[in-house]
Amino acid sequence: MNSLSFLQMMMLIMFITAFGTTKSGVDAQTSPPIARGLSLTFYNSNCPNLETIIRNRLRTVFNNDIAQAAGLLRLHFHDCFVQGCDGSVLLDGSASGPSEKDAPPNLSLKAEAFRIINDLRARVQRACGRIVSCSDITALAARDAVFLSGGPDYRIPLGRRDGLTFATREATLRNLPPPTSNASFLISTLANNLNLTATDLVALSGGHTIGISTSCANFGGRLYPTRDPTMDQTFFRNLRLTCPANSTINTTVLDIRSPNVFDNKYYVDLMNRQGLFTSDQDLYTDSRTRPIVTSYAINQTLFFERFVFSMIKMGQLNVLTGSQGEIRANCSVRNPTSSSSYLSSVVVDDNEQQEVVEGESAAF
Ligand code: HEM
Repeated sequence: MNSLSFLQMMMLIMFITAFGTTKSGVDAQTSPPIARGLSLTFYNSNCPNLETIIRNRLRTVFNNDIAQAAGLLRLHFHDCFVQGCDGSVLLDGSASGPSEKDAPPNLSLKAEAFRIINDLRARVQRACGRIVSCSDITALAARDAVFLSGGPDYRIPLGRRDGLTFATREATLRNLPPPTSNASFLISTLANNLNLTATDLVALSGGHTIGISTSCANFGGRLYPTRDPTMDQTFFRNLRLTCPANSTINTTVLDIRSPNVFDNKYYVDLMNRQGLFTSDQDLYTDSRTRPIVTSYAINQTLFFERFVFSMIKMGQLNVLTGSQGEIRANCSVRNPTSSSSYLSSVVVDDNEQQEVVEGESAAF
């Protein structure tokens, strides 16, 4: 394992002294405001076992295959960045056209992640009826993916509703930046489209502490025709073995130090010039984000606190609440048109508790 140079260590010590990262120093920022319509106790009375059902099931899933944790974390991110956390990424396309799921950045989402969400939805529905949205289940699954792979545990505001539409291919591409993006592009895109800060960007990119890239094309431009000078030599040589050509289809871990553990090693990778994508490594090259990377590399507690903060913030982007959207009976398809959904669900799900939404009853 590469170690930090003496100079880097000295800079770290100066940094800690200057920025004092004690727990009490960051407490004020550990929770962003809760979006209107969401609540930490949303299902307490009508689905009190919700979080236990999800966590227990995912514990079993991850015991069999820890790689699924990364798939679920990424799924929630892709849901939230495009049209808000409304479960729209879960929707299948139809004869009338491809869905958000079919747009290029989403094609590498793990197929198993979609199956796990549908399985969780069925389990939750058996226990509580159709009252928990697919978008809430996705958010809880991402939270448990983080916790069950070694990361922080935290409570998330619930009460999201599922969207009735999915985003176009153009909107999906516009909102999910490519791995070739530099920090400048990421900082401005996240600020303009999502109101997220450079600190959010660095913290959320820490999601790359687990999981894999499935194609060399994601970083091939850093290997060919010549080495990206911001990439470590040994790392480069090893990646060229994995990727004999620019766009070889092969898998590569995102965090070479601890690929299956949710920890702060991703930032240590960046400091050692072993970040996989330009979008990762440039966070250490850009002078605006470099100190943030350094602070997380030396202080995992700080990273966990900031990650939780930014995940809660991301998880509330453009949420639908109250009587907006719907509670899907199947996460992959929207319910039959809202005016007939009540009747059809009575026929289809006759032993399941019905969704009760204030304001919708007037339609029947
Ligand atoms: C900042 C911009 C980001 C870019 C450009 C980016 C790009 C990518 C790319 C290209 C992959 C590899 C996909 C594949 O080849 O299968 C990937 C994987 C992953 N990303 Fe990101 N990502 C970003 C932000 C995030 C965020 C915010 C999170 C979560 C908080 C996240 C979590 C993950 C995870 C967990 C994986 C591994 C997925 C798996 O193993 O199935 N990413 N990302």
